Amino acid sequence: MTTVETATLIRHGTTLRLGLSGGLERVLRRIDLAGILGESPIERAAWPIRRRLVRVFSRAEVIGGDVHITYDDGGSEAIPGSYLAARALRHDRSVDRIAELVIDGAGRVLTADGNSSDPLGMIDHGAVVCGGGRILWLGPSNELSRSGCDLSRARRIDAGGRLVSPGLIDCHAHPLFAGNRADEFASRAKGQSYLDIAAAGGGIRATIEPTRRARFDQHIALTADRMAGALAAGTTTCEAKSGYDLTADGELRLLDIAWAVDALQPVDLVPTLLGAHVVPPEYAADRAQFVALVIENMIPEAARRGLSHTVDVYCDEGAFSRDESRDILRAARHAGMHVRAHVGQFSDLGGAEMVADLGGLSADHLEHVSPAGMAALAAHSVVGVMLPGACVQLRSAPPPVALLRDAGVALAVASDLNPGTSHCETLPVQMWLATTHYGMTVTEAWLGTTVIAARAIGRHDIGVLAPHARADLVVWDAESPAEIPYHYGANLVHKVVKDGRVVVSG
Ligand code: NIG
Ligand code: FE
Repeated sequence: MTTVETATLIRHGTTLRLGLSGGLERVLRRIDLAGILGESPIERAAWPIRRRLVRVFSRAEVIGGDVHITYDDGGSEAIPGSYLAARALRHDRSVDRIAELVIDGAGRVLTADGNSSDPLGMIDHGAVVCGGGRILWLGPSNELSRSGCDLSRARRIDAGGRLVSPGLIDCHAHPLFAGNRADEFASRAKGQSYLDIAAAGGGIRATIEPTRRARFDQHIALTADRMAGALAAGTTTCEAKSGYDLTADGELRLLDIAWAVDALQPVDLVPTLLGAHVVPPEYAADRAQFVALVIENMIPEAARRGLSHTVDVYCDEGAFSRDESRDILRAARHAGMHVRAHVGQFSDLGGAEMVADLGGLSADHLEHVSPAGMAALAAHSVVGVMLPGACVQLRSAPPPVALLRDAGVALAVASDLNPGTSHCETLPVQMWLATTHYGMTVTEAWLGTTVIAARAIGRHDIGVLAPHARADLVVWDAESPAEIPYHYGANLVHKVVKDGRVVVSG
């Protein structure tokens, strides 16, 4: 029997690192312990969640094989070592094909794992078998008994004829900020432009001060609330860009906050360093020095501490030039990181070609992009990320979607969740705008928030329902894929399953 030998707290008390007998080491996030701490995952995903979430561990020690934890508010409890060992080794059991959850009775399963004749990979009257946090099997319900899985101990859910899809992936989001800019929204509604507001001291710079001032626990509560909203609307993985602090320590603190929130609630966060969002006021007279700070300090430190695998840059009018952006992204490549860029939201600075040259994961916005830029994206398999919420809100003309499609650029769709241009954590709203405002098809909107979104964040284990993929899925109160963007503004999520566990239950 495996026993717990050591227990260490990491990530600001939100994550437990366990040393197990036999020299094994495993990490358990707070959300992984939800069952035993008397807080069910469903409660954790509920709104409001602030009080529970900020109650983090301050100490952990092994006494008689059990782990005694102390909370930062002085409370304490003991968790049986046998439970922790079983939980920590849970993912290792997937090879055993022991099912933990079976979703049967789906009217249709949208796997996002299709082919040219069936791009959404639809299965009629389907079932999905999950174990060890992964998908073990999926197929028509009448073949379930031949799945080869041990179903005897599994929890069974009847989808009642509903549509089942992969958990949605928000591949472009800025959830790490404090304050709001509703006043700018009101000014824009009266006709002021985003660039004029930014030039007068608003825009990204207006969010810097509240973001720097907010305490770590306040940021955790704000970001966790945003993730609760995203999860309720079907998002199971969300990118989290830094970029509203813009000091070296502050940008790394935002990435740390993203990891802490990742550990505290069901949505997986994917932290991205966006140190080059704008030049902060204190460097206004010497932008080269700020670029040097990003290159020489933020990027190497984020890489060294493993805080982020990806660097983003805002290459546009009012932000960073193509040459500055290239220098920053080259430094990221040297540090072994992926690169992405915001390009062409207001002007085409040649950012698409630049990010393609560097083998980037994605080029985002693309309202303004040249034929050469589109060809470069397609040739280097760079995902084009469509952000219709921001575009509509700024009353900009949409990107040349038909030309991007014809050029062969794979298109993702994301929220661009941010305090300025798109205060929205709801991907179905973006699917609606992508189909109505951008001229994307329903199929493109679905692939863009699942399998193609996964590519934009460098992941291959999510965004599809297929054997070995993570068991992240949504059961929708709908029968067909088109119903989700069609019934805009409604929340059609019936259930959300994350890592094989039901975390939202309608
Ligand atoms: O993606 N990153 C660039 N601009 C953001 C808006 C950020 C803000 O206004 O706070 C965008 O649209
Ligand atoms: Fe953005």
